[in-house]
Amino acid sequence: MAETEDWEATDRFLEGLLLPPDPALDAALRDSEAAGLPSIQVSPLQGQGLYVLALASGARRVLEIGTLGGYSTICLARALPPGGRLISLELNPRHAEVARANLQRAGLDQRVEVRIGPALDLLAALLTEHAAPFDLAFIDADKPNVVGYFDRARRLVRPGGLIIVDNVVRRGEIRDPESPDPNVQATRQLLLHLAEDRSDRATVLQTVGRKGHDGWAIVVVGESGQEGTTPSKGTPSG
Ligand code: SAH
Ligand code: DHB
Ligand code: MG
Repeated sequence: MAETEDWEATDRFLEGLLLPPDPALDAALRDSEAAGLPSIQVSPLQGQGLYVLALASGARRVLEIGTLGGYSTICLARALPPGGRLISLELNPRHAEVARANLQRAGLDQRVEVRIGPALDLLAALLTEHAAPFDLAFIDADKPNVVGYFDRARRLVRPGGLIIVDNVVRRGEIRDPESPDPNVQATRQLLLHLAEDRSDRATVLQTVGRKGHDGWAIVVVGESGQEGTTPSKGTPSG
């Protein structure tokens, strides 16, 4: 499709302009491919987008759901201030192993912990641990569980923190209530969920580029989000 070629060419043009040479990210992609991981990481400009959002929000603690080879992890972890921390959750031990090597080469292994297991269980463990609240969460794992991920992430992110969800537009298929695709159905549930909860502020940015037509949900967590705190305006949190 000509339109798609145009999106890709424009992505390449913008990457050439805006993204400095990045040996660590190049090596991460090369080794992920060599290990046979699927090439479904965020695009280079989206990776820079994650970096920009993490930096702009001053995030010190970041939660990621879906590590793959650690491409988005590297982008997010680079935005952390000294003493900052990122926890990334990944089901597949092979993916986690590749990611850890990529993070080490990028000099980020001291700030990043990759936890292996089903993300729903790992999130439940973070909740029972009373892990210090996160400032930002990036949700990018299997789509059928996305509502569960969002609900748990919402309880782990402080009020005013950000939750970014990848792949929420799916070529516009999310408009189709009859879609047989379980990824589309789950994503529709997430969007309806966002529509219902007025304490959060949410937008969806549609994106085009080398990954086709898709989008990010970007959500600022409202006062009622955090677990175990009474939503009282005068109470300092965390
Ligand atoms: N965020 C990455 C891409 C993640 S791809 C990047 O942009 O670089 C999605 C990842 O989610 C895959 O590695 C897949 O193994 C993982 N995943 C799938 N189901 C999962 C589950 N139930 N729990 C945790 N991770 C899961
Ligand atoms: C695909 C893309 C993604 O960003 C993702 O998280 C999962 C799958 C894909 O292109 O198939
Ligand atoms: Mg994705």
